[in-house]
Parts: sequence; structure tokens; C-alpha cells
Amino acid sequence: MSPTEAKHKIEKLSAEIEIHNHNYYVLDKPIISDYEFDKLLEELISLETQFPEWQSSNSPSQRVGGQITKEFKSVKHQYAMLSLSNSYSIEDMIDFDRRVKEGLGFGTSGLFQEDISYVCELKFDGLSISLIYENGELKQAITRGDGVQGDDVTINAKTIKSIPLKLNGHYPDKFEIRGEIFMPRPIFESINKEREEIGDSPLANPRNAASGTMKMQDSSLVAKRKLDCFLYYALGNDLPYQSHFENMLAAKSWGFKISEHAKLCKDIDDVIAYINYWDKKRYELPFDIDGIVIKVNDYKEQKNLGFTAKSPRWAIAYKFKAEQVSTELMSIDYQVGRTGAITPVANLKPVLLGGTIVKRASLHNADIIEKLDVRVGDFVFVEKGGEIIPKIIGVDLSKRSQSAQKTEYISLCPECHTPLIRVEGEANHFCPNENQCPPQVVGKMEHFVSRKAMNIDSLGSETIIQLFKAKLIKNIADLYDVKKEQLLTLDRMAEKSANNLLSGIEASKNIPFERVLYAIGIRHVGETTAKKIAKKSKSLDVLMHASKEELLEIEEVGDIIADSIAKFFKQENNKEIISRLKMAGLQFELSEEQLQQATDKLTNHIFVISGVFTKHSRDQYKELIELNGGKHTGSISKKTSYVLAGDNMGPEKLKKAESLGIKIINEDEFLKMIM
Ligand code: IVH
Repeated sequence: MSPTEAKHKIEKLSAEIEIHNHNYYVLDKPIISDYEFDKLLEELISLETQFPEWQSSNSPSQRVGGQITKEFKSVKHQYAMLSLSNSYSIEDMIDFDRRVKEGLGFGTSGLFQEDISYVCELKFDGLSISLIYENGELKQAITRGDGVQGDDVTINAKTIKSIPLKLNGHYPDKFEIRGEIFMPRPIFESINKEREEIGDSPLANPRNAASGTMKMQDSSLVAKRKLDCFLYYALGNDLPYQSHFENMLAAKSWGFKISEHAKLCKDIDDVIAYINYWDKKRYELPFDIDGIVIKVNDYKEQKNLGFTAKSPRWAIAYKFKAEQVSTELMSIDYQVGRTGAITPVANLKPVLLGGTIVKRASLHNADIIEKLDVRVGDFVFVEKGGEIIPKIIGVDLSKRSQSAQKTEYISLCPECHTPLIRVEGEANHFCPNENQCPPQVVGKMEHFVSRKAMNIDSLGSETIIQLFKAKLIKNIADLYDVKKEQLLTLDRMAEKSANNLLSGIEASKNIPFERVLYAIGIRHVGETTAKKIAKKSKSLDVLMHASKEELLEIEEVGDIIADSIAKFFKQENNKEIISRLKMAGLQFELSEEQLQQATDKLTNHIFVISGVFTKHSRDQYKELIELNGGKHTGSISKKTSYVLAGDNMGPEKLKKAESLGIKIINEDEFLKMIM
């Protein structure tokens, strides 16, 4: 293909892919399959690798991320990012309407009463973002910061598929559009499920999750978090209309995701009806909102009303009251998690809250119970906040019975009766009996057989519990000794399912080392970390004997993970399980193929990778560096040993490498180093 042909093809593919992105993520109406989409993207990436001169900074290939930002640049907003004043009642709304009318000099009584058109919108609960577009291309994405200046998070914003990188139709040459980045609730729930599996503390709520994600340094991790973005405010000199609602419709036609729930209201009564509707319906949305935003539609009127020091006079936020109900506390249960953490849970007399019937509420830990002084038999106030499980926020003391007993926190594990411990600085009590306490043992096995670990899908939770209760297995190593005759003694276990189970167990012996490492359940070692550790250590033997310094050299391993690994391998019980798993034939080192590529030829060498390559992808070069004992970092410093440069290396990097006298090598030279 000639360069000119390549240029046209790249442009055509990019445009086509962005249309499919828009169909899928903005319109929610994909017209091709995921497979077909992936093929198009692959083709684009391959062409861009061959012809890097035609890769645009807003190519859809940028959406997968990969760039690292050590520190986000702080930039000044062209228009300050103000907040809104809050209100909490319908009276406040009527007051607002009156202030607007007075501000505009309308008569407030009698015949000359005029109505104002307001736009009502959902108040999305995420983090606000300002997007700057020039000539139809995304130029910059800036967080709110202190309102005057924020962080340039463009690289991370580009991974959000509903944020258009290029616009369609008749857009102004230059304008700014603001909106809210948020994490949809189903995504939030699945991330927390995964975190729970590796014993990490859950993310508190979707809002924190979204803002934490946008601060991540590695944009490929941001891409995986599947954030979304609604836009709700355009700014600029050449907007097509003189009113907010019409400009939002125009923005929709340029490709932005504008909420379909925004409504143009003819007067304040319409506004109140909208508020009342969403106060009830908000729980049916797949994302969180914490109120309604009301804006004067007409720009001339907005301009006349102006701003106070903090917020516009033409808009206001109506904040929902977190719905509260009072109900009776029947009893308190104590749950034991896979990691041994104890969570007290309140059993409530069932009550309707936020559209669902609530029977249980989290009491979090002993300190909270003490602080609230909740007692069985009390009437408690329950509230639904951003969290999944509703929480108890107080006790109705007027209804307390004289005989109510002060709650005494348990001191023994409710499952295995081991005395609980409390670690300095941690809120929860723990059951230390991790190898015998049933929910901890069963939890570890469920993790071990799960899809991303040993993938023994013929072994479900129910069977694990049965096997454990029948004392046929008490740890993960026992699984490999289970006999068919034993399985057949279980309830609902016939010949066929027993065979299936045994062949699932047999097949798991071929699962590669990195997944075995994830499966054995070292606290805080997730899937990606396990991969990095496996590549670097190459075998479990090496890992077991690694010093803390050596562990800390592995990418993604910090103090907490290093200590957790060391602690795991110090325990006699774990050592025994590992040696039995080894005997059973599990993979405890990298495969032959991986090992053949591995050397320690790059030990003590630090690489920076820059540019576009033809023989291997950038990620493959990273892997090769790790496999051969080297390290790679994102930016050039005195410590850098080599810059591995492909085509189109950034001029800044080149200058820096040259000024520090760092050797620049190409693909072939690098591959020779590890031959
Ligand atoms: S308009 C000058 N519209 O609420 C007006 N804000 O306290 C700019 N928010 O910082 C804001 N949904 O992060 C507007 N539909 C919406 C909104 C919204 C959520 C957030 C935004 C802002 C805060 C206001």
C-alpha cells in the first residue's frame, strides 16, 4: 500500500470506528458485532504501526490507553468552573422562581405575571469535567480542581468511549463543553466483586470510584474501568443558539452524550412535577443522581441575572433528601468474609425504602455500634446513600424499651468459635483461624476454582460446601486427592457430574503458572499483579525465597503486597499445601516457551520505550524486557540505561535522551541484546 493509500484508509477506518463507538456508547444501538468491531480496530492499529506518520492524536486507537502520566499538568480554566447553590425543598424552588422573575424585572403579581422557561436536568453524581474542542477535535479535558485551575486529564478522558474525539455536523470552531464523568452502577458492582475476590477493600461508592479512576497514572487501567460521561453545559462565542436546551440538542447532533431525561419546562409548576417524578424514579436509573439541576433556558435572561461570587443566579440544584425510614432492629448477625473480616449486619423488620424492601443494613464494625448505641428491639433510622447496602444512621430513643440491653460485640468467631483479634489501625475484628474457619476455607476454594483462576467450572459453590461438610476436602490441595467413589456419596452427584468434576480438576493441572499464583489466594495479589510476579520470578521456588528488596523490584509490588507475599510463604500450612499441589502436577513455573525467552541479560538495565515498532508491539517489548530481567519506566532520567526507540519517537524525549547522553537503540539492536 502506498503512503497516500494508507492515509486514506486510516482516515476511513477511524471515521467508521468512531461511528460504531457512537452507536454503541452514546446511542446504545450497536449495528455490528463486537467481533467485527475488534477486527476494524485491529486493522487500524496495524496500519498505524506501519504508517505512524498518519496516526492522529485523536485516533480511536488512543481509546485503549497505555500512556502513563506521572503528574497531571495544572491548567487554568478559560471560564471559571463554578458550583451551584443548593436547595432542599419545594418552597426553596418557588423562592428561586421568584428571585429569577424579580431579577429580570417581571411583575410578580396580577395580570402581568410572565413565566420563565426552565430546563430541568438530572444532577449526575460523579466528577465534573471540562472538554475543549477545536476544529471538531478534542483538544483538552480538565478537571474542576479549585474551580480556577484543574488537572489536564486528556489522556485518561480519551479512554472514555462516549466522549467524542472528533465531531460531526456544524459545530463551532472553538468551544468548551462541560459534563459529569461517572461510573455506571453495574460496572461499580462488578469491580467490587472482583476486589472482594482478592481480599481488597471495596470501593466506597460510584462517585469516589469515578474520581479515583480519573486520577490513575496508567491510562490503560482507566480504559478498563468503563467510565461514562454526560454533557450538560456549553460555553463559547459561536454557539448556534441563544438558549441552553437548543444548544444541547445541537451538541447531541455533534456526537455528545446528552441525557434524554433533560426537559424543557414552561413554568415552575412543570419544574416541581419533574422533581417529584425523579425523586421516586431515581432508583431505576443505572447510575447515581443526587438531585435535579434547574437552569433558566434563555441566554439573554441568564446574562441579565449574572453570577454571585460562587454560582450562577440563573441555576440552582435541588438536592434529594436521602430517603429515611424508621423500623425495628430484630437481631444482629456477624458475617465472616473470605479474609476473616467480621461484619456486623442488622436484621430489620422489612420496610420499603427507595423503591425496594429492605431487610438488612450494614453496621460496619464495633466502633459504629458503640457510637450509635444500637440495641436489639430499638427503632432505628435507615438511609439509602450511594452505598449498596443501606445504613443505620441513628436510633429513635423515644421508642426505646426500658429492657433494651446494650449491644455487646462478639469476642468469638460465630462460625468456628476462635477468639477474634483486632489489628491496630483496622476497623474490623478478624477471625485468625484462616485454615479451619468454614467460610474462610470455602471462600478460598471458591476463589481457587473461579474462572480467572483454575477455571474448574464443574465445581460449584454448593458442591464445595458439601465436600467441606463431608470432610472430604479441607483445603485446596485436598481437591487433587478426591476419588470418584467419594464424590458419589454426595447429594445429587451422579456418575456423569462426578466424571465432569474429575476431568475439570485434571485439566486444571495445565493452567499456566501466573494463574496458579493468582489462584492460591495471596491477599492483595490480583490477576495482573500475579502475572507481573510470575514473569519476574519465573517460578514459585524463586518467589518463595525472594527477599523483600527483590519483591519490591517487581512492577506493581509495593510494601503491602510484598509483606503479604512474605507472610503467606512463612506459614507452615501454606508451605505444606504448596508442596502437595506441586506433587499433584500444577504449573509452578513459566512454560518452556516462556522460559526459553527468559534470561537475565538485562538485569540492572532500565529501558524507556518510545515510538512505534514493526516487529513486536510496545507491550510485547515490555514483556521481553521483564522476561530478561530488565525494567522499563515511562520517562527518561539519569537512571535510564537505554531508550528503545521506534519510528516517530517524540522530539522532547529525543532531546532529553541526547542531553543526558543516554544510548538510543532500535528494535534490531534490542533483539540482539537478548539473543
Ligand atoms: S450545571 C454553572 N448540570 O453539580 C453551572 N451541573 O454543584 C454548572 N452536576 O460542579 C453546572 N449534574 O459537577 C450542571 N446537569 C447538571 C449537573 C451538574 C451534575 C454537578 C457539577 C457541578 C455540581 C454543581
